[in-house]
This record gives sequence, C-alpha cells and structure tokens, in this order.
Amino acid sequence: MSQPDNNRQAATRLIALRALMQVMFHGQSLSTVREDVYTKLTEPRDRGFSMELVQGVCRWRWKLDAILLACLNKPLRKKEKEIKLLLYLALYELLAMHTPDYAVVDEAVKLTRKLSKPWAKALVNAVLRNFLRESESILASLDETAGYSHPSWLIERIRADWPNHWQSVLQHNNERAPLTLRVNRLRTTRQDYLTVLTEHGLTASVNALSDDAITLTDNVDITSLPGFSQGLFSVQDAGAQLAAPLLQCEQGMSVLDLCAAPGGKTCHVLESTANKIEMLAVDVDATRVQRIEQNLQRLQLQAMVRVADAADAASLAADAFQRILVDAPCSATGVIRRHPDIKSLRQADDIETLVALQAAILNNAWRSLQLDGLLLYVTCSVLRDENSLQMERFLQQHSDAVEQPLAVDWGQACSVGRQLLPGEQDADGFYYCLVRKCG
Ligand SMILES: C[S@@+](CC[C@H](N)C(=O)[O-])C[C@H]1O[C@@H](n2cnc3c(N)ncnc32)[C@H](O)[C@@H]1O
Repeated sequence: MSQPDNNRQAATRLIALRALMQVMFHGQSLSTVREDVYTKLTEPRDRGFSMELVQGVCRWRWKLDAILLACLNKPLRKKEKEIKLLLYLALYELLAMHTPDYAVVDEAVKLTRKLSKPWAKALVNAVLRNFLRESESILASLDETAGYSHPSWLIERIRADWPNHWQSVLQHNNERAPLTLRVNRLRTTRQDYLTVLTEHGLTASVNALSDDAITLTDNVDITSLPGFSQGLFSVQDAGAQLAAPLLQCEQGMSVLDLCAAPGGKTCHVLESTANKIEMLAVDVDATRVQRIEQNLQRLQLQAMVRVADAADAASLAADAFQRILVDAPCSATGVIRRHPDIKSLRQADDIETLVALQAAILNNAWRSLQLDGLLLYVTCSVLRDENSLQMERFLQQHSDAVEQPLAVDWGQACSVGRQLLPGEQDADGFYYCLVRKCG
C-alpha cells in the first residue's frame, strides 16, 4: 500500500492513531472505528492507507511492543498511550509497508507536534533510529511468544485446547483473510458468477468447503462487484457457509434462527430452501436486526424478524420449530484473522460469562424444538469451554438430546461436534455440533 501525498500524510496517520486509541484503550471494535475513519477521509487511497495501519497494528501489537521495549532504555510511562501508539504505527510501517525509512521517521516526529507533545520528539527519533540501526539483531532477539503476537492468556488457552495445532492456529490468526462470497443460488450459479467475475478482470476461485463459496484474490469494494444490489451474492466466510447444509432444512419446515444478526446464515438457509420455509430470525440487538432486514430485502428473501433475548424463556414459544440454529455469541477467537481487534478487546474473564450465556440460550432454544427436530449449535470460537465442553454439559443435562455425528471430512473431530480451525481450507475457525430431540 503506497502512502498518500505529502500534505495528507500527517492527517491519515493521526486518524489511524486516534482509531487505535479507541480500539486499544476504549474497547471499540474495528468496524466501528472504520466508519469513523471513512467519515474523516474521503479519498479511497487515504482510507486504505489508514485502515492498513490500524489493522496491522492491531494484528502485530504484541510483537511491536516487544520491539519497542528492546529499543527503549526504560519503558514508557503508562500514561503515554499516544506516544506508544505513535511508535507502534511507525514500527509497523517500517516493518510491513513500503514507506521509505526517512519518511516514516519524519512523519512520526511531526506527529509529536500534532499531539502537542514536543518533548517526545527526541525520544521518537531515537527509538526509530535505534530500530533502523539494529533491526536485524532486535528482531533476532525476540522470543517465540512475541512472534505469535497474541495476549499471553489467549496463547495459553489455545495451546492447552489444541496441543497439536496451537502454533498453526496462532500463525493463521495473523494472516489476512481472503474475501469470500456466497453466491445466491436462487439468482445465479457459482459457475456463472465466476465467469462474470472473470469477465470483470477479477481473479476468483471456488472454495471446496461450500457449494456456494467463491474466494476472490483481490481485495475489492464489494458494492462495486457485479450484481451486488441485485442480490447475486453476499460476503460470507466459507466456514460460516457450513451451517445451512448441516441444518438439513426442507421446504415447508418451521425454522428458528436465534442470534441471527446480521442474517448471513438466515439468508443462506432461505436460499438453500428456495425461500420456502417459515423462518423466524431473532436477535437481541435492535440495530443489528435492521441489518437482517436489509439483507433479506437485497437478496429478495422472506422471514419474520424479531428483537428478543434468546436467553429469556418468555421470549420463545415451546415446541414450535423443526429446526433451530443457535449461532451463539462467543469469544470470536476463530475469526481473529478477519477481526484482529478481538485480540485487544477480549479479556480472559469474558469467557466464563460467555459460556453461561451460551448455556442459557441453548437451554431456552431446546424448549422450542419439536420432537425429532434438529438443533445446530455454532460458534466462531476455538476454545473448548465454549464448544465441545459446552455441548458435553448440554448433552448430560438433556436426556432427550442425542448428538448427530457430522458426516463430513473437514476440520477436527471433538469429543462431541467438530472444529474447523482458522486457516483450514482457507476458512475462519468455526465449531459445529448437531443434536436431535428424541422421545
Ligand atoms: C455470531 S453473531 C451471529 C451471526 C449471524 N448468525 C450471521 O450468520 O450473520 C451472534 C449474535 O448473537 C446476538 N446475541 C447476543 N446475545 C443474544 C441474546 N441473549 N439473544 C439473542 N441474540 C443475542 C448478537 O447480537 C449477535 O448478533
């Protein structure tokens, strides 16, 4: 990614720094700060440059921190958050972008003035020149953990849960995710849409995980792709596209999608049943529910949509549905390559709270499932507490629940259910477990 013209450089970096402050110190998500960056920067090139900096620093925060420590005589004071981020940004730019070294140092020094911290000019200059002089030995001195660039609690958990795969999971988490589409089979075919993409000069290929998935090599603005407003496709990771076929819906069935927003899986289920099911899509978040409506409209699909708390027993009718999808709120540790902010936003003690919420939603969903119906439990987590251990507990507590082993060849078999790990078959990490209600 090339840098913007001279007079806009300082602005784009300052906007990136402010966005990082929001993610790293005020708990905001990357998608929220992206909107903010896009409002402040109108040029696509500036937006791209700024977001590349923000995402890169989110991804490599822990490695950059280790480098920074190695370059400093004494650690920065805790309150100097802006200077720390300024140095992360400059180090990331030196390591991963094409900006000439002298320009990175100049711009970083200029930023100290913009931040009204002229005292930091000498420090910033010294740290960056120190790194440029000694980069080889500094990088060689970093320990293995710094190279993984994850918070230590998360490295420990992933290592404990996946003793044979943890390094690969951590490495894949630091990769950039491909842009994967789900072709709307009610409007076109995968082959036809591939041809359309090729005719538009785009390089794309099928992803074998899903019959509907296409992966694009180039990162493009999806609204500019042919057929977006006509609903020819949606953006959805190939791992997320596994839900619809696993749920085994047939036309005429009553289907409940709990935790449905923004409606990716709801719409896929509708597309795979020719829009001929009775679908109720529920989510607790009213703003996100609007996105279900928008997606249904763009794809020309029909469902009932409701704002409700899936953990609240009063919100759902008993024995009403033949199929239930529980795409539970989770740590999102399977989608870190797509959302590197998760590493900063998620804290170790969030997991226990999430596990309790997932159990409450599952118990409630179970009441609403008809006899002989199927419930599919899904998370985009790689942590066993939220996945196989959650479902082991559920099966122990519900004598009428029988696990249905998944006859598939992807992912890792677990004690119950199956885990697709991040990067496997070029997809994000998802856990799936299918359960039947028996008499
Ligand atoms: C993993 S996302 C769902 C993604 C969606 N299924 C899709 O494929 O587009 C989890 C969703 O759970 C919702 N959620 C969290 N707690 C909930 C609750 N108590 N009841 C209903 N929905 C909840 C969140 O608002 C979020 O939209």
